[in-house]
Amino acid sequence: MAKIYSCGALRAENAGEQVTVRGWLNRRRDHGGLIFIDLRDRSGLVQLNFDPQLSGEAHTLAGETRNEYVLAATGTVVLRPSGTENSNIPTGEIEISVTHLEILNAAKPLPFEINDRIEVSEQLRLKYRYLDLRRPRMQRNMILRHKVVKYMRDFLDARGFIEIETPILIKSTPEGARDYLVPSRVHPGKFYALPQSPQQLKQLLMVSGMEKYFQIARCFRDEDLRADRQPEFTQLDLEMSFIEREDLLQLIEQLFIEIVENVTPEKKLKFKPFVRMSYDEAMDKYGSDKPDLRFGLEFVNISELIKDSEFKVFSGAVAAGGQVKGICLPGCANYSRRELDGLVDYVKQFGAKGLAYLQLEQNGDILSSKSPSAKFFSSELLNTITTLFQAKAGDLLVFVADQPEVVANALGRLRAEMGKRLNLTDPEELAFAWVLEFPLLEWRPEENRWDAVHHPFTAPIPEDLHLLDTDPGKARANAYDIVCNGYETGGGSIRIHRRDVQSKLFKLLNYNEEQQQERFGHLLNAFEYGAPPHGGIAPGIDRLVMLLASEDNIRDVMAFPKTQSATDEMTDAPSEVDQKQLDDLHLKLVPVEQPQK
Ligand code: AMO
Ligand code: AMP
Repeated sequence: MAKIYSCGALRAENAGEQVTVRGWLNRRRDHGGLIFIDLRDRSGLVQLNFDPQLSGEAHTLAGETRNEYVLAATGTVVLRPSGTENSNIPTGEIEISVTHLEILNAAKPLPFEINDRIEVSEQLRLKYRYLDLRRPRMQRNMILRHKVVKYMRDFLDARGFIEIETPILIKSTPEGARDYLVPSRVHPGKFYALPQSPQQLKQLLMVSGMEKYFQIARCFRDEDLRADRQPEFTQLDLEMSFIEREDLLQLIEQLFIEIVENVTPEKKLKFKPFVRMSYDEAMDKYGSDKPDLRFGLEFVNISELIKDSEFKVFSGAVAAGGQVKGICLPGCANYSRRELDGLVDYVKQFGAKGLAYLQLEQNGDILSSKSPSAKFFSSELLNTITTLFQAKAGDLLVFVADQPEVVANALGRLRAEMGKRLNLTDPEELAFAWVLEFPLLEWRPEENRWDAVHHPFTAPIPEDLHLLDTDPGKARANAYDIVCNGYETGGGSIRIHRRDVQSKLFKLLNYNEEQQQERFGHLLNAFEYGAPPHGGIAPGIDRLVMLLASEDNIRDVMAFPKTQSATDEMTDAPSEVDQKQLDDLHLKLVPVEQPQK
């Protein structure tokens, strides 16, 4: 009896064995008398050899096969003749001399080839996602994702966490993005919402005494999509009682380090322990609350030095309450006029009015510059500035002068872009960092009210609690984001667990007592029945796996993602429904001229 093997499992040690393998025809080559087929399954490839001398029937049948036919082949494992081994694949030392072939199913010619080298449009890949997922790269990504999630489950189980499912049909409560709504058939005119995250439910589980909860939770947000944003995505949602911030940071840091070291050991962790910085520091040095820390290119603030400069672009900005910051681009002094204009245009997209630059060259003992703005810099000032930047001949200093938000955004984007262009972003490196002490609230001038920077359940850091009464904008949140290579890979906080504090916060957000009860009554009431101090976090699994898989789009680590415009190319969702379905749900459609965004 032949033993059944996975294609990729066979090795030289198996020579002489009678085996059966099953899989897809990856490639067929007819060599006169002999036919070779590479058979593929999830585990890899194995070469089948059809010799008419050995089995005329199998050989004839093999001649009728095409790419992606599903086959079962039985034969003897033999060592390949010396010189014909293939060291590129693990099964390259052997082949199977087939005595019996069965065609389990035929396949039409495919819209694209199943291999990792072909470039296919993503639209086509998504339309035929079931074929796209046959490609080794996608299979690797799915397997990696499985391993990461399994690691999370085992890690948390070993530490006393329990996995609890929470409902997908919930009450609509604002959490920043727009809700996906589900009309109720039983209650005309009423709607469920799909959770943007299980935030309130996990807090209620703490009130229930579950103490350590987690869930691999699907979240739904109707927002503008980007490479790292999908309308539905998955979080490792987690909450704990009786803990402080430090407990959570340690737990998640340990989990992430272990995942990298055990699941993707080929990746390099840049920081161990992870770097920590305050939100203010991140904005000040990198202009972003999720900086890519694989490289430096840190901002230098020269506002003080140039506030009285003749260069009105600079001194004017400082006089108007703004600032002037720059970064040093190593080895870029020889950029052509066109390349320099390109940099100027790049920052202008992000609101900057321009980009001033100094091309540094050696001039005797000192650095000098012939750039247009250089005339405004005395050699003494230039010396101070180049020292601050630790710049050298051949470097290019670039500056943005504006209000702090504009400087942060424009220069931060330029920093990220130049990190890539100058090859400072090693794809094998993971630079995890914690960003701490975000502001709790931000002012919404158009609505004349405060809004929560994270969500309204986030506690202020204890020493800032009193600021809620006096200067809410100054209060820092007891919140933490975990960031990596320029992405936010997770966010969480210590929560408010007292009803009076929660009410005070809602009031700042402009909810009166009645609105608070109507929207959040369940939580406020629960807080009156012995709510323990608690906190949690939710790492984004798609983004984490994307980074571990060295992909740059979360769609490549999701089996059936949506497009940038939230459609499913394969099933054509969203789609129209029958009048009967609408009637059942008490819905009437209003015709629109233009499909709405
Ligand atoms: P937050 O909104 O910061 O926090 O989300 C946590 C993490 O989820 C991921 N994420 C996304 N991933 C893909 N597509 C999206 N549209 C998307 N939106 C968010 C990110 C992000 O860091 N309930 C709180 C967590 C808490 O306080 O415990 C929450 O959802 O990686
Ligand atoms: P202008 O005075 O507009 O001719 O600009 C002189 C130089 O300063 C040009 O190189 C501009 O790109 C640059 N520049 C203009 N506005 C800014 C700004 N807000 N920040 C930095 N550089 C600027």
